[in-house]
Amino acid sequence: MKNYEIAVIAGDGIGKEVVPASLKVLEAVAEIHGGLNFKYKEFPWSSEYYVEHGKMMPDDGLDILQNFDAIFLGAIGNPDLVPDHVSLWGLLIKIRREFEQQINIRPAKYFKGLRSPLVNPNDFDLIVVRENSEGEYSEVGGKIHKGEEEIAIQNAVFTRKGTERAMRYAFELAKKRRGHLSSATKSNGIVHSMPFWDSVFNEVKKDYPEVKTASYHIDALSAFFVTRPQEFDVIVASNLFGDILTDISGAIMGSIGIAPAANINLNGKYPSMFEPVHGSAPDIFGKGIANPIGQIWTAKMMLDHFGEQELGQKLLETVEEVTKDGIKTGDIGGSFTTVEVADEICNRLKKLA
Ligand code: NAI
Ligand code: MG
Repeated sequence: MKNYEIAVIAGDGIGKEVVPASLKVLEAVAEIHGGLNFKYKEFPWSSEYYVEHGKMMPDDGLDILQNFDAIFLGAIGNPDLVPDHVSLWGLLIKIRREFEQQINIRPAKYFKGLRSPLVNPNDFDLIVVRENSEGEYSEVGGKIHKGEEEIAIQNAVFTRKGTERAMRYAFELAKKRRGHLSSATKSNGIVHSMPFWDSVFNEVKKDYPEVKTASYHIDALSAFFVTRPQEFDVIVASNLFGDILTDISGAIMGSIGIAPAANINLNGKYPSMFEPVHGSAPDIFGKGIANPIGQIWTAKMMLDHFGEQELGQKLLETVEEVTKDGIKTGDIGGSFTTVEVADEICNRLKKLA
């Protein structure tokens, strides 16, 4: 029996709907396998917790989380109760930074039964590896003077260690997929960090002769995500470029409600965290209509992380069949509820057992 201990933080809004629905699906997956045992511990850390305790999680929250094999998170944010920067930085970003989750991976593919806004989505299937710890999102900089003389300086930080780490991860991933890696650069306009990025890429690629590579300037690459996404396999990008690219890759799938993400700790010191790309969607919370697929696909990424790729693939294929048969929520053109979609996925999984 393989045992995994999973910390569950449903968080706010629809997190409280899609997380329980996805845990049912995970249980059905464990049943197919027979030798998998998931133990869940749920934590009520959220904006409501903040109202009661004056913080998003207890002071020893990270110590508690550290002992788990993975963190399965819904969404954080209830601006009626807590300002967004307080709730996000008090929990989500704290976990990402303190647990050294240096890589953020976000897959996107043409999903059967979903209407992509692209006229010809052509079966694209790509994954963006985003550097998650430095780059343009640094706290280095400051402001001086006031009024007309005011100056703001924001420094981008690119270390050899961080850059190489993201690239090696991306090369390894490309090796396991279709063997193609694209690098997002902008060395024509950004004359220090991006030529550095390119030179590290060119060095690292010598270790992976079996992987075909290409470099694109980020502006052109963004356009290609819209005009010919099917040409891409794995893409490695800095923090900002990866952030922008994955909003595009989510959009061309057809709904933010299905896009998954994983924050990976590479040194094995801390657990990795699995969360959908979407937020707490206060506009639809409580109606039972949130799309659970983003959260369920996130569970698939957790299975991959545990080395259960085959099982993860079965799960994703089952989800796609259910969508193809029209059992889907309103955001993707259906009329089913969160629970109905999850239950249908469970029923079909159980038939595979
Ligand atoms: P959002 O992703 O929550 O919602 C954007 C739009 O997409 C809304 O119209 C919503 O109804 C729809 N949507 C999102 N997920 C859906 C799903 N699973 N099924 C169907 N429709 C879905 O982004 P928004 O509105 O900008 O932020 C709301 C709150 O969530 C804020 O407090 C924000 O800070 C937080 N947030 C948290 C994130 C996280 O925990 N990782 C990420 C993004 C936002
Ligand atoms: Mg973003």
